[in-house]
Amino acid sequence: MTPKPVKTVVFPVAGRGTRFLPATKASPKEMLPIVDKPLIQYAVDEALAAGADTLVFITGSSKRAIEDHFDTNSDLEAVLQTQGKQELLATLRGILPSYATCVYIRQPAPLGLGHAVLCARPVVGNAPFMVHLADDLIDATVPCLKQMADVHRAHGGSVLGVQVVPPADTDKYGIVSLERGAEGRVGRVSHIVEKPKPREAPSNLAVVGRYLLSGSIFEELAQVGAGAGGEIQLTDGIARLMRREPVHAFQFEGKRYDCGSKLGYLQATVEYGLRHSSLGADFADYLKRIVPTI
Ligand code: G1P
Repeated sequence: MTPKPVKTVVFPVAGRGTRFLPATKASPKEMLPIVDKPLIQYAVDEALAAGADTLVFITGSSKRAIEDHFDTNSDLEAVLQTQGKQELLATLRGILPSYATCVYIRQPAPLGLGHAVLCARPVVGNAPFMVHLADDLIDATVPCLKQMADVHRAHGGSVLGVQVVPPADTDKYGIVSLERGAEGRVGRVSHIVEKPKPREAPSNLAVVGRYLLSGSIFEELAQVGAGAGGEIQLTDGIARLMRREPVHAFQFEGKRYDCGSKLGYLQATVEYGLRHSSLGADFADYLKRIVPTI
């Protein structure tokens, strides 16, 4: 039987963003812009492109700006209307289509990604859902979550978006190994571990911020205790889920920018800037001029 379309995406956005302080002291790291759009809007656009209509944000302190961003700002719209700035008005009104519902759930304490996802249980129930980490910006012809939804339709079970990372970096990620005989882009996960040291890592295939999970994950997360870094890890919940249901790793097509790091954020800014419809050509000229002087 073909699985039903997955309509709910969970965005864990309660993290403190300490790597970007002081920029993230009073405003969420998810509101950092890549050129002129905040990271969280790229995330929501990707979810909508995958067919989602229910967007669940797991928020924490200092995250009000995210709610405001997806809400109507009547005062600003009235000003733009008066000034005849129709294009900007259309941009604002296009941030969220009317069929999409935003749900905000407050994570009472920063207990880890697994705990953040568990906070979505009252909204998600038992249905499969997707998780999107906005730090991981993925540029792809077919949006990454859409690719994952297609894999779910074909293979069922849960699907983890994975990429090969440098072997020295395994301690930054959830790392998977695959069952023997896995070929192509989809393989069944045999083992998953959170942030192993390079010499202990089972592979260098890393989960990079995209998950399509069976609703059974909640029962598992409810049983998981503190893991790596003293936090309740989503990875540990997935390790338990694998004992009862198939979990697939999917090497999606696309380029990932680690916007949780300053270097990755700058790389995304440069590349998205170069591709920007009204800015790209001028920005390219500028870069050509300054690069030889570096
Ligand atoms: C989280 C997950 C980790 C995953 C990573 C992807 O780690 O715990 O398994 O590989 O996101 O970006 P974090 O980056 O929040 O420390």
